[in-house]
Amino acid sequence: MDSQDRTKNKRIEREQGDVNTTADRQKYWERNLKDASKKWFDEDKKYFLHQSLSTPVLNVLSKARGIYIQDLNGKKYIDMHGNGVHNAGFNNPAVIEAVKKQLDEDLTFCPRRYTNIPAIELAKKLAEITPGGLCRSLFCPGGSEAIEMALMLAKQVTGRFKTISFWDSFHGAGRGAASIGGEEHFSGGFGPMVPGAYHAEFPNYYRNPWGFTSEEEVDAECLRQMELVLKRAPEMAAVIGEPISATPVVPSRRYWQGVKELCENYGALLIFDEIIEGFGRTGKLFACEHFVTPDILVLGKSMGGGLRLLPFAGIVTHEKYNICRHRSIGHYTHEKNALCSAAALAEINYIEENNLHEHAAELGDYTLQRLNELKEKHHLIGHVAGLGLHIGIDLVSNEKTKERAVDEAEIIMFKCLEKGLSTKTIEGNVLTLRPALVITRAEMDRAIDIIDQAIGEVEAGKKY
Ligand SMILES: Cc1ncc(COP(=O)(O)O)c(C=O)c1O
Repeated sequence: MDSQDRTKNKRIEREQGDVNTTADRQKYWERNLKDASKKWFDEDKKYFLHQSLSTPVLNVLSKARGIYIQDLNGKKYIDMHGNGVHNAGFNNPAVIEAVKKQLDEDLTFCPRRYTNIPAIELAKKLAEITPGGLCRSLFCPGGSEAIEMALMLAKQVTGRFKTISFWDSFHGAGRGAASIGGEEHFSGGFGPMVPGAYHAEFPNYYRNPWGFTSEEEVDAECLRQMELVLKRAPEMAAVIGEPISATPVVPSRRYWQGVKELCENYGALLIFDEIIEGFGRTGKLFACEHFVTPDILVLGKSMGGGLRLLPFAGIVTHEKYNICRHRSIGHYTHEKNALCSAAALAEINYIEENNLHEHAAELGDYTLQRLNELKEKHHLIGHVAGLGLHIGIDLVSNEKTKERAVDEAEIIMFKCLEKGLSTKTIEGNVLTLRPALVITRAEMDRAIDIIDQAIGEVEAGKKY
């Protein structure tokens, strides 16, 4: 890609994360892929279909345990991304034990029209721990499918088909999920998306496009625009969003209360996608507990128990929406998978018993405080935001204009990797920190020190 293309595509191509087509990625490979890794890297590149955010990959892993991933050369990295599946730590021993026990029971899969005790216990557990009367579950293999189920339920309940979701959001790879997602990366070049998918602005206080100086003004403008869509495109089935955006931007409680009120006034359901934020990540068991209870809560990722071999997801909703007697909204082969249910139950129990959500709240506050201290030291840090262990560092090349430091962010990411910290960028310039919730303060200090060093090196003019 020549430099002109690079500039032109800077924003678009990296909206979801760092990509594998840059010159710095090439340098990372040349420096870091050695011996065994190089051989397997080349084979992966040869046999998998290539796509921007995955293949060719960064590196080849041999292990994922606790807060760490490890490559084939034995190098360990604190994983600040983990694709969100690692809340209780990768390969948590309690989860592995539960899976082994379930394997010994000789019941892993459960054909449709039958049920099993782990699946029932998981649904019962979710009814107990989710807030505000959420009590009816439906499970499926992955987050994208769970999003489809939530949309289909909302459409069945309301008899309508239109939705409002948010620009820059990601809700999965399926057709419905990609239609409500707000990134060009997943919709461009695929022809018409699902009809009726409207989008609205998420209240971004640091980067609000109107130049407002108070959160109240930003909230009011976002709510005004949402109401405009509800009025001009009547008969809306649902508003769907992550309670806190992936970047992350943490909206006020006032904002979500306003959205909920609008939903009630216009007869739309409120759906929260907590596929990343559920199960303790934001300092409460569920992120919606900071704001309002949705009509449908979508869960995934860590529900599979951080084992990676057991993807599992689902929705939880209210008794009054148990209305699909004559239709199926989630006719998935693995709807009541016993093995995945056992893993999910063990994961949830581990989080509860070890108060990982409270730990995330405390360590998150500490981390934000340390990062804000770094902000005073580094002009590249424009803004730090987050809740619990869901944190982002917005890197800027100009503090006043807030121009996104896209190239610098990528170099910092590769420098962090070489120093043993795996993080990813989002929207081109935001470094995201979403470690396993079992991370200790000392480990977090080590991670912050690495980030500090990496940013310092780039500010001192060191290229990658
Ligand atoms: C917020 C959000 N929603 C939905 C999904 C889709 O989940 P899955 O990849 O399990 O289909 C993701 C995946 O990254 C996500 O981050």
